[in-house]
Amino acid sequence: MTDSTATRFWDKVADKYAARQVKDVASYEAMLADVTSRLVATDRVLEIGCGTGSTAAKIGGHVAEWKATDFSPEMVRIAQARPAPPSVRVVQCDATDAFDGAPFDAVCAFHVLHLVPDLRAVLSDAMAALKPGGLLISKTYCFADMGLGLRALFPVLRLFGMFPPAASLTEADLRRAILAAGFVIDVQTTFGQNHHSHYIVARKPT
Ligand SMILES: C[S@@+](CC[C@H](N)C(=O)[O-])C[C@H]1O[C@@H](n2cnc3c(N)ncnc32)[C@H](O)[C@@H]1O
Repeated sequence: MTDSTATRFWDKVADKYAARQVKDVASYEAMLADVTSRLVATDRVLEIGCGTGSTAAKIGGHVAEWKATDFSPEMVRIAQARPAPPSVRVVQCDATDAFDGAPFDAVCAFHVLHLVPDLRAVLSDAMAALKPGGLLISKTYCFADMGLGLRALFPVLRLFGMFPPAASLTEADLRRAILAAGFVIDVQTTFGQNHHSHYIVARKPT
């Protein structure tokens, strides 16, 4: 379970997060195109850490059901107010409680796996909640691979409430955790200039 500092952080920044412009639209669109190319119309998708629901609103209409979840009441308030296809349902819950309604064809986790306090538990829940052959589609920051300057800055920002509680993963840690949960990694890449945000598509073996 997540401590309330994390929820408070995301509640506080929710309005700003909703108002921010996507920095690299082409990369974001390329990632969304890749995600949708892996989904079919009958799919049931669970998204954890959906934030303000922009991804669900954009691509949730490609599938039969898109359950978008986030633990922050403020993020969820904004996501629920956002116009979205009828297949999208936004639910407030911690990632550890998000897996009700399994089995799913895909679990999406964009910019959130580095934020959960127990990555192994979430990956194991995702594995259990997926149908055989189902996909974990994720994009995750690996802070431990960033330069020393940035790594030194994060704890200072956190002290002033300007950075959320987050794990300092290396790309190797992340891969290892995904493989240890029993997934097979189908694809790993980055989009755009940010080479520390890894897009990984992993499959539950059939
Ligand atoms: C960096 S934002 C990413 C939002 C969205 N997925 C995106 O890519 O724009 C991280 C989101 O994860 C949510 N979050 C962080 N830890 C969480 C947890 N343990 N359970 C559920 N949601 C969580 C936060 O509230 C926030 O909305």
